Amino acid sequence: MSSELPESAVPPPTGASESTSGPSRRTFVATGAAVGGAVVAGGAFFVGSGEATAAGVAPSSEVSLTVNGTRRTVTVDNRTSLLDLLREHLGLTGSKKGCNAGACGACTVLVDGQRVNSCLTLAVRLEGAEVTTIEGLAKGDELHPLQQAFIDEDAFQCGYCTPGQILSGVGCIQEGHTDSPEEIREWMSGNICRCGCYVKIVRAVEQTAGRK
Ligand code: FES
Ligand code: FES
Repeated sequence: MSSELPESAVPPPTGASESTSGPSRRTFVATGAAVGGAVVAGGAFFVGSGEATAAGVAPSSEVSLTVNGTRRTVTVDNRTSLLDLLREHLGLTGSKKGCNAGACGACTVLVDGQRVNSCLTLAVRLEGAEVTTIEGLAKGDELHPLQQAFIDEDAFQCGYCTPGQILSGVGCIQEGHTDSPEEIREWMSGNICRCGCYVKIVRAVEQTAGRK
């Protein structure tokens, strides 16, 4: 068997000029970047130059909602998520952006008492809503019982998932899904912990629910 590679598999020597027939590698990269930029900037809706202009005048709306007991009125781009409203507009950075796609639970907050992924919730749909974030759980210096339980059970390592875990745990307890460790695991399964603190997180929820 010959050990020589076919000519097409051999890379050009370093410093070789790019082919003049057909698009060069540099042209291809530049074109790809431009197309990709148009798609990203337009949220995959605007691909032509005329529509791209429309992207520059994205509609905005005023929304009034109560966050941690304080009434807030803000004007936001209609595409703004609740998570970005909290973090970028209100400076409440306790809610974390993990996946920004509804898969990790790091952004969990309570809206009208229900736990939601704030990265998937449009802010402009929350007119009049009551939102609770991790910053609003404690009463002054007194931690919420589940916050205290996370400390007691040492239920975190890096802490990135912890605000979402705690808000989800509060929701889980309010919903009454705490009859067994298995039930807690099931109803907390939307909250991922890359540090693997699940056993202690379940214990913290159990402690708060009064099962320990
Ligand atoms: S950041 Fe919202 S679910 Fe991951
Ligand atoms: S404590 Fe690190 S991701 Fe959960």
